[in-house]
Amino acid sequence: MKRVLSTFSLLFCVALAVSVSAQATPQGAGQGSAPTAGMKIASDADYATHMKEIGQLNGVLNKSIKGGMADEATKAATRMEVLFKNIHGYWAAKKVEDATTAAQTAVTSLQGVQKALASNDMAAAETARATLAGTCMTCHTAHREKLPEGGFRIK
Ligand code: HEC
Repeated sequence: MKRVLSTFSLLFCVALAVSVSAQATPQGAGQGSAPTAGMKIASDADYATHMKEIGQLNGVLNKSIKGGMADEATKAATRMEVLFKNIHGYWAAKKVEDATTAAQTAVTSLQGVQKALASNDMAAAETARATLAGTCMTCHTAHREKLPEGGFRIK
C-alpha cells in the first residue's frame, strides 16, 4: 500500500512539473510564427514577422547585387518572393487595392531579379531591385504608421 501511494505521489509530481513547464513556455505569445510558403497572415504579429525578415533580406539583396554575388542575391530574392506572396494574400483578402498592387509589383520585381541573375545580367538585376525598392516606399507611405513608443503599425 505504501509503495502504491508513493508511486502515485511520484506520478503526481511528474505531472505537475510537466504542466508547470508547459505554462512557462507559452506557444507563440506575441510572436508571429516563422513564415512558410502560402502561409495565411492571421495577425499583426505574423505580418510584422514577415516585414522584419523582408527588411533584413532587402539589405542582403542590395549588398549582394552591388557586390556581384549572384548566388547570395538569388537566395535572398527567392525567399523574399515567398514572403511577398503572403503579404499580397493579406492585402488581397482585405481588398485594399493600392497595397495589393504594391505587393504584386514587389513579387514581379523579385521574379525579374531572379531571372536577371540566372542570366548573369547584374545591370538588369539592379534595375528590377530598384523597382522593388519603390514598392517599399509606396506602401509604407500609405499603410505604415510609426508609433510614438517605437516600432510600426498597419494603417
Ligand atoms: C504592400 C505593402 C508593403 C510593402 C510593399 C512593403 N511593406 Fe514593409 N511594412 C508594411 C506595413 C503596413 C508595415 C507596418 C506594420 C509592421 O511593422 O508590421 C511595414 C513594416 C516594415 C518594417 C518594420 C517591421 C517592424 O515591425 O519592425 C520593415 C523593416 C519593412 N516594412 C521593410 C520593408 C521593405 C524593405 C520593403 C520592400 C522591399 C517593404 N517593407 C515593402 C507594408 C509594406
